[in-house]
Amino acid sequence: MTDAVNLSPEIIQKESQYVLGTYPRAPFVFEKGEGMYVYDSDGKAYLDFGSGIAVNALGHNDPDVVASIQEQAAQLSHVCNLYHTVPHVELAEMLCNLSFADKVFFSNSGAEAVEAALKFARKYALKTSGPGKSGIVAFEDGFHGRTYGALSVTAREKYQAPFRPLVPGVTIAPFNDIAAARQLIGPDICAVIVEPMQGEGGIHVATPEFLTSLREQCDQVGALLIFDEIQCGMGRTGKLWAYEHYGVKPDMMTLAKALGGGLPIGATLLTDAVAAVIEPGDHGSTFGGGPVVCRAAQVVLEKISDPEILAHVVEMGAYLAEKLLAIDTPHIQEIRMSGLMVGVEMDFDVRPLLGKGYAEGLLLLNAGTNVLRLLPPLIVEKEHIDACVAALEAILD
Ligand SMILES: Cc1ncc(COP(=O)(O)O)c(C=O)c1O
Repeated sequence: MTDAVNLSPEIIQKESQYVLGTYPRAPFVFEKGEGMYVYDSDGKAYLDFGSGIAVNALGHNDPDVVASIQEQAAQLSHVCNLYHTVPHVELAEMLCNLSFADKVFFSNSGAEAVEAALKFARKYALKTSGPGKSGIVAFEDGFHGRTYGALSVTAREKYQAPFRPLVPGVTIAPFNDIAAARQLIGPDICAVIVEPMQGEGGIHVATPEFLTSLREQCDQVGALLIFDEIQCGMGRTGKLWAYEHYGVKPDMMTLAKALGGGLPIGATLLTDAVAAVIEPGDHGSTFGGGPVVCRAAQVVLEKISDPEILAHVVEMGAYLAEKLLAIDTPHIQEIRMSGLMVGVEMDFDVRPLLGKGYAEGLLLLNAGTNVLRLLPPLIVEKEHIDACVAALEAILD
């Protein structure tokens, strides 16, 4: 709708007038995307190293994803969960065949996938151990979403403070601290929720000993282990699921973000043992598992589970690491990464760098104040990494 006139100042003014201000937004309006690039209403190209926060894993407007959406939307877009449809069954089957899981519950976002997992864990404990086993252990620097259950396991004072009281029964342990977790995971705990690789909290990678110990401790007290792979799953780390790096399997796993190919989806994957306690009416979602998003997700999953793209993620991750390490600046304190999930910790507040990135035509993310986060689409090539690092060098200069 912006053929001759640039409407972006008007759109930005109207945004502040009509849209609730829960997000600070960049000072331009995006109109289209293709591959590694997004274009604003002036036609300026931006190299995307954020993937819409780990969503556009196949880049923008992947032709196969677009075709699947168009075809399914033309055939059937919604009937609700009172009826059978083909796409959500086929997607659930694919997810189970490709993971530890036996069953899937579909919703529409990451936070909803987490809510479902927490509810299922409480019901499992009630059915298998009786009342009283309702405690949940989560970790410092973890992020699980902003609905009440998800917020309650997201130990960030800034996010929680205005909204108390939260869901009771949550205790927070330091991440990667085996002894502290062992102390907290007792017989009253029904679930432990953890990101194998923390995203929003600053890109912190769990140690194998830590996840192994959580698995052992959960088994000992009859608690369920929930892996939140909403950000680190779907090939981001060079394996389809981050837990594959560890040889530790969860009882439940939450997915969202990249799975939907740009459309909203949440998925809670679970074992048959957990599924056995859930009955009709225990949980639900009007839109969850809709035909259009599930068709798109099938295409995404098929493409991302291909060993070739996973190998490409490993190769590009190594190349990006090499290039980042070669940047000549005293400001980089540490680089933490797995595959194409990268955190560059600086000795200053990195948030102003995002604006400088826009000027250079580069989309970057932060994770907290001091960590620059790079989450390029998994289709990134060396030339894009070279361009990103050159722009970063210019910015840091
Ligand atoms: C690990 C993790 N869990 C949960 C969420 C919440 O997902 P959503 O924003 O789709 O509710 C996020 C979002 O950033 C996330 O990174």
